[in-house]
This record gives sequence, structure tokens and C-alpha cells, in this order.
Amino acid sequence: MRAKPFLLSFFAGLSAISVAAAQTAPPAAPPIIAQNARLLPVLAQKGMVASQERLASAVGVDILKRGGNAVDAAVAVGFALAVTLPRAGNLGGGGFMLVHLAKTGETVAIDYREIAPAASTPTMFLGANGEPDPQKSRDSGLSVGVPGTVRGMALAVEKYGSGKFTLAQLIEPSVKLAREGIPVEEDLADSLPGAMGRMSKFPSSMAIFAKDGKALPRGSMLVQAELANTLEAIRQQGPDAFYKGRIAEQIVAAVRETGGIMTAEDMANYKAVIRPAVKGSYRGYTLASMPPPSSGGVHLVQILNILEDYDLKAMGAGSAASLHALAEAMKPAYADRATFLGDPDRVKVPVKGLTSKAYAEKQRAKIDLAKATKADDIKSGDPMPHESDQTTHYSVVDAEGNAVANTYTLNFSYGMGLVAAGTGVLLNNEMDDFSAKPGAQNAYGLVGSDANSVHPGARPLSSMTPTILFKDGKLFMVTGSPGGSRIISTTLQVITNVIDFDMNLAEAVAAPRIHHQWKPDALLVEPGLSPDTLKLLAERGQTVRPGATSGSANSILLQGGWLQGAADPRQRGTAAIGY
Ligand code: GLY
Repeated sequence: MRAKPFLLSFFAGLSAISVAAAQTAPPAAPPIIAQNARLLPVLAQKGMVASQERLASAVGVDILKRGGNAVDAAVAVGFALAVTLPRAGNLGGGGFMLVHLAKTGETVAIDYREIAPAASTPTMFLGANGEPDPQKSRDSGLSVGVPGTVRGMALAVEKYGSGKFTLAQLIEPSVKLAREGIPVEEDLADSLPGAMGRMSKFPSSMAIFAKDGKALPRGSMLVQAELANTLEAIRQQGPDAFYKGRIAEQIVAAVRETGGIMTAEDMANYKAVIRPAVKGSYRGYTLASMPPPSSGGVHLVQILNILEDYDLKAMGAGSAASLHALAEAMKPAYADRATFLGDPDRVKVPVKGLTSKAYAEKQRAKIDLAKATKADDIKSGDPMPHESDQTTHYSVVDAEGNAVANTYTLNFSYGMGLVAAGTGVLLNNEMDDFSAKPGAQNAYGLVGSDANSVHPGARPLSSMTPTILFKDGKLFMVTGSPGGSRIISTTLQVITNVIDFDMNLAEAVAAPRIHHQWKPDALLVEPGLSPDTLKLLAERGQTVRPGATSGSANSILLQGGWLQGAADPRQRGTAAIGY
């Protein structure tokens, strides 16, 4: 019954934000926003949050308006999404936060990826026949990596927060959202029915997300009292409340009851790590992105390096010529991903070589702009899997020019579908991102080598690509996306749409995207490209596979003193909010 007043005041807060933005808007829009554009970004001058869920974006903007910096706001958004976008926002998963600090000019990467429990072994996901058993790596307690989000968020505030907000204050809004409830609307209403198959095995999950055995209906309220208690415990006692004691024990019990091997020591030992960002450049812009254990930054830079010598602008946005060039540049990068990438604490990843211009030149020399290169030794018969990925990405910029690109995940939509009883915490199935054996595909059809095999304490290879670009040393763009293996290609195309094709940010995010990951040898295309273009691509030798949309590239761009915000229109409920 207390839900309404809070929500009403929350929504009232949202309209206040739009009114304030309208009142302070100067007479002319920045020149980059073409008046005849089909889509326009949100404009603001001080701060902006672009995320996959409106209430969470509003939480972040509220922190910015109260004097918090981008990191403070990003942490508040991270906890809020765990409540309002439960299929991807999380406490029970992990991810990566890229932080740019305006004062020092440094950009650092916080790695809070899940880790393999200490009792993990390289063969743990093989069945009796010696072949990968997806049930083990995706649908059992073995699939759950030790969650990193709570330690990651705490580390971010401690190291890079403004000092004006404590972790406790940044968690406060999410406690309220969980306790008082949120309406089952937009993406929540769209995604819950699809999760029932996984959740129906777990009464602890159904008790929260279902009614009478069916997904909570559109228009009802999702109240997460246990999650509120967990958030409240973290608020009062800090991250140890999650990693040690009752909550950790409940998580471990849920994992072990479903066949897993996680222990209380695994939880207690989890550490988030700060790593140097991967750096690159493209047509006069510089960029920082996520280093291993994500493959995202390395391959984003690698693909941009290959593309740099092509005149994409002259080829034209959405033309067969430019899409073919993009696809051919993606292939060698994904082939390298399969061979070289893994946890940098366990294997030596040749980041410098992979991201060098000289290496790109060699790879470009093998590309034929008129004919697709076939992926070697493709085994037919393994269709591209269509597991719904549910990672989520959000971008934050504050008035000082600090910026955060954060991508985090439970892996599948609602992770394993398992809520650890008594905690309200949905658990990830991230262990499937390891290679069950060399050459085996994960849920996204990605193959890997021994570099990404399962080892105790290792972090599974990711594709998450939170990225920040700079022009003349100044902040230019903050971007990234969910999408499993398509995260890298999605982020790439937002960047090329802006830099090569002069799109405003809203158009750059909305434009139809393509994806090629070397194996399977197929060019995935979103709806929106013309049949003529697809025909021309097929004539160049591409195996064109039209399919569903992918990604949610919630991004921010800074130009002419203005912030442009664009929430991806591919899902309902996404929101860029500025002030
Ligand atoms: N679970 C998807 C990724 O990390 O790439």
C-alpha cells in the first residue's frame, strides 16, 4: 500500500526533470543535430544518464543533480537496475565499469567479472561422452560464477566517487524500489513470460516473479521484499554483508542444491580488480575500452584499425559496400578471439599485437572488398543459437566531464532463473562463457581455445565493450551494449555511424546493425536493410541471415558544449535523461 506515494513522487520527479531541461534550453540546438533527422537525441548541458530502464536512469540523474559525480550516479544506477531490470541488472552477476576522470585525464577499467569457484576443473562441463553438456554450463548450479557486482560497485565509489555520497546513500533508492514495488510494464512485462520456463523449476523464483504459476501480469506490481532486505543489509554493513555470513550462505546453498560447487570461501574471497583500459585510435579520435578478461576492447580496436583505411563515408551508410567491409573486418577479429583471448591473470593475451596498426594492415591485405572470405573448416549443422542474452549497458556523464560506461550481466535473461531463497538475488549462469573444451561453442556460438578453459578462480572471457571516445583529448562519446557475441559489433557500429556517417547519436544507435563473428560463417542482419542491399551482399559471397534485433546501446555524446543522450529504441522503457 505504501508503493503508490513513492512511485507518484518518483514520476513527479521525472516530469520535473523534463520541465527543468526545457526551461534551461538555450535557443539554438547544436549544429550537429540536423533539423531533418528522423530521430533526435535528448539534449542536456550538465549531466546525462542513458540506461535500459527509465526509473534507474532517473535515480542516476537525481544523484547528479544533488552533486554526485558520474561514478556516484553509475553506482546508484547499477543497484537500481538490479531491482527494475531484473533480467540483466543484478547483484548476482558481474561486469565491467570503465571510468574516465576529467581532472587527471585517466581512464581505468574496473573488472568485477564473476570468477570460477575454487573446485572448478577444465572438464567440468563435459558429459559422460566427453562432449560439452550445455545443461551443466547453463542450467545447473555449476553454471553460477562467484558474483562480482557488489564488490565492483563498492570499489568504484571508494576509489572514484565524489566523496559526497556514501555507498549506503547510493543504495537507498534501490531499497525503496524493491520494497515498495515497481509496475510490471515495458520491458519487464515483455521479458518475464519468456523466463518462466527456467524459473518454474525454482519455487523461490516463482514466489517473486509469478502468480498462479504464470508470469506477473502487465499492470501488476513487482515487490521484491527479500531483495530489499539484501540491499538494506549491504546499505547498513557494506559489501561484506553480501559476501560473508547469512546472505553468502544462502547463495552458496542455492548453488549447491542445484548441483554446484561454490563454497562460502569462494564468496568471501571474491575481489574486484582495477585494470588499465585498452587504448586505440580511429580517424583522429582516441578511445579507451575494456581489456581482458573481456575481448570487447581488444577486438573493437582491432576492427576499427582494419576499417580505418577504407573510405566508409564514400561507400555510404547501410550500403552493401560498407556493410561488406564491416563484416570482413569483423571476421579476423573474432577468429583471433577464439584463439588468443582469456583471463589475463592466467594466460598471456597479446593485447599489444592484436591492437597494433601494423597487424591490422596485414589483416586488411587479406580482405577482398568485392568477395567474402570464407571462414575455414566450417562445420555445418550447428545453427546459431538463439538464447536470449541479457546483459545491460548504461552510460553516465556529469557536469565536470567525468564519464562512466558500465556493462554488466547475468548472462542469459534472468540468468539461470534461480533466486537464492531468502535473498531475492537472481543468480548468473556466466560459467557458460568459458570454453567447455577447445573449439566448442558457447550459447552465442562463440568458440574458444584453452586460453578460455575453466580454471579455479579464473574469469570467463566476455564480449562486453564499455567504451569511451575522445576528440582532441576531450570527452566525446560514451557507449557500449548488451548482445552476447554481438556486443562488439554493436558498439563498433554506433561509433562508425557517428564518425564515418555523421549520424546524430539517436540515429547512430537506432540504425539497423549487422554482425559477423567468423564462425558460424553467417552475416546476421537486423530488420531495416533493403532487400536490394541484402541481395548485393549475397552476391559478394556473404551468407546473409536476416534475424531479430539485438543490443541496447544506451549512449551519450558530447559536442559543441551539449550532451546528446540516446536510449536504444529496440526495447521499451529505455531512457536517456539529462538536466
Ligand atoms: N555473457 C556475455 C558476455 O559476457 O560476453
